[in-house]
Amino acid sequence: MKRLVLALLCAACMTAMEAKTLVAYFSATGTTKAAAERLAKQHNAQLWEIEPAQPYTAADLDWRNDKSRSSLEMNDPEERPTIKQCTNVAPYDTIYVGFPIWWGICPRIINSWLDNNVPQLEGKTLIPFATSGSSGIGEAEAYLKKTYPTLKWKKGLLLNKR
Ligand SMILES: Cc1cc2nc3c(=O)[nH]c(=O)nc-3n(C[C@H](O)[C@H](O)[C@H](O)COP(=O)(O)O)c2cc1C
Repeated sequence: MKRLVLALLCAACMTAMEAKTLVAYFSATGTTKAAAERLAKQHNAQLWEIEPAQPYTAADLDWRNDKSRSSLEMNDPEERPTIKQCTNVAPYDTIYVGFPIWWGICPRIINSWLDNNVPQLEGKTLIPFATSGSSGIGEAEAYLKKTYPTLKWKKGLLLNKR
């Protein structure tokens, strides 16, 4: 009986510990969303979708068109697309931050999300993850570290494989 109570307590403690993980992600066409869902399941984490106030259309995502919304945003390092809803990051110790690779790095909406949350993110463990056509996550990792040097970034994960 004692053992059973102990085992139940341990399980409850572990769930409470793991529940402190958040998987926050942006996904334009669903690939990163699927990766985020797998990651959240794996870590028993909360999921949070970073949604643009104005959703991206197929034309917005056309990287061959230098006038498309994504091209204009990626060409302007100061661009910060508006996010639909803010996130309460306070309860979490570890936060996975996911995105599709755009022009080698993270889409500007990730900057919007980080800028909105920077003071509360200090001291938390941040793990970038991404999906891509073929690029690695190295350039995005370096960019995030350089742009947000006060945040505690861990090695990133490229989650292209199922
Ligand atoms: C505007 C734009 C830029 C992209 N730039 C790159 C890139 O530099 N390197 C790469 O490998 N894939 C690039 N891709 C492909 C995406 O990273 C890839 O399809 C990703 O898995 C899409 O994720 P999502 O479905 O969550 O939006 C780009 C896609 C778009 C729409």
